[in-house]
Amino acid sequence: MKVKVDVKKCVGHARCAASAPEVYELDDNGFNVTAEKQIHRGQEEKARRGARACPERIIAIEEE
Ligand code: F3S
Repeated sequence: MKVKVDVKKCVGHARCAASAPEVYELDDNGFNVTAEKQIHRGQEEKARRGARACPERIIAIEEE
C-alpha cells in the first residue's frame, strides 16, 4: 500500500506523526513532508491510524 498526503493543505496538526512517526515525517515547523510513500509490511495499520488522525483529511491510503 501507499500513502499520499496533500502536503499543500497541511496546517501542522502533527497528529499523523504522533500516531505513526515511522511513516509520516514533519519539517521543523511541524508540517507533513511525506507527499507519497510506499508502506512496508507491518506498518500498514500505523499508516492507516495516522491517516485517520488528521483532522484535515488530507492523507489518502492506496491499497494495492
Ligand atoms: Fe498535517 Fe494533518 Fe499531519 S494537518 S501534520 S497531515 S495531522
